[in-house]
Amino acid sequence: MSSAVPLPRPRTAIVVVAAGSGTRLGVPRPKAFVGIDEHTVLHHALQGVFAAPYAQVVVVAPEAHVGDALTEIEETAGGRREIASVVAGGRTRQASVSAGLAAVWPDVEFVLVHDAARALTPPAVFVRVIAELESGRGAVLPVLPVVDTLKRIEADAVIDALDRDGVAAAQTPQGFRRDILQTAYTAASADHTDDAALVQAAGHTVWTVAGDERAFKITTPADLERARSLITPDAPEAAAPALPPPSSRVGIGTDVHAFGGEGALWLAGLEWPGEPALHGHSDGDAVAHAIVDAVLAAAGLGDIGTHFGTDHPEYAGAHADVFLRRTAALAGAAGYTIANVSVQVQTIRPRFAARRQEAEAVLSASLGAAVSVSATTTDGLGFTGSGEGVAAYAVALLVTR
Ligand code: CTP
Ligand code: MG
Repeated sequence: MSSAVPLPRPRTAIVVVAAGSGTRLGVPRPKAFVGIDEHTVLHHALQGVFAAPYAQVVVVAPEAHVGDALTEIEETAGGRREIASVVAGGRTRQASVSAGLAAVWPDVEFVLVHDAARALTPPAVFVRVIAELESGRGAVLPVLPVVDTLKRIEADAVIDALDRDGVAAAQTPQGFRRDILQTAYTAASADHTDDAALVQAAGHTVWTVAGDERAFKITTPADLERARSLITPDAPEAAAPALPPPSSRVGIGTDVHAFGGEGALWLAGLEWPGEPALHGHSDGDAVAHAIVDAVLAAAGLGDIGTHFGTDHPEYAGAHADVFLRRTAALAGAAGYTIANVSVQVQTIRPRFAARRQEAEAVLSASLGAAVSVSATTTDGLGFTGSGEGVAAYAVALLVTR
């Protein structure tokens, strides 16, 4: 209580009982101090508690672990540190709640009692319980519908089936008007399973609100496993290698071929009957070759000579389709997807306008990515302007993933 600006006095207190030994969990330390991940059961429970509406927090810990509980408060309370405290618990849960109640400040009106063992309880459950108390209800219990069929048994024989319809599973935080809980505790002679049962035995109506699947109580080793699986990512995801961040790369490619080849003209993946052929090792398709270079450059895979040079006789006379499919496969094997390619051809013949879209369709189909084709002339200048040959310029964009 040393802050210069004291926090306002809370209207509500949350008593977090964490003084049990965890017999059924079967570990040598008290259950609240068992790790779920790198944090303990109590640490997780307090994260929920301090994210709940503003309240005094009293942690009830085993005598020998009061200091550890204080450390957990330091790590989770944030700005609420000065309205949180720790007291030592008792032999039974009821005795522990009593000890916690004794530490609740006199002006507090509502008290919530919460099991630290329900470590993953969402703050929304606290919100619902407190809202009911503020609306005038004296005792509020979060419940979940029961999904299993219930049987009454004696020794190991079933003697009756219970109607599931009228049955609900009780959770915590259970909320009470402070005077009701206090009086019921003072009067209690028998040990009750929970605070709602004790208050009901004192003659009060207990009202229900929706609980939450995540408010389950860690009781057995299987429960602890469940908690672990809920707060750590799924095992297969965790085991998968981290993907590199998505990235993109561009590449540029150009090609030039002279007219003067044998047979028909092949350009931009199309055969052009009646046009003079281009000269080259393959079919001289400068458009296709520029695309190949652009994609290979973007993928960092060298250039057309590396993969399709004259030392590869299988490509002699090959058309665009062969080059582009192979190029796409190389880029894919290197981990890239071709986003798109833009290619421009400079030539005075053939005239592209009428077959531009056809060329785009053919090239795109072969490459497995969008290829846009444009054509231009050079106002009579240079080797393309004089009709000696064609030039093509391509840009490719590749992305990883
Ligand atoms: N609790 C407590 N003091 C006790 C017994 C229980 O504060 N003497 C608390 C536990 O720490 C737990 C909650 O009450 O947060 C619910 O009890 P339970 O799940 O039964 O915990 P344990 O009693 O610790 O476990 P077990 O019954 O298996 O020994
Ligand atoms: Mg117990």
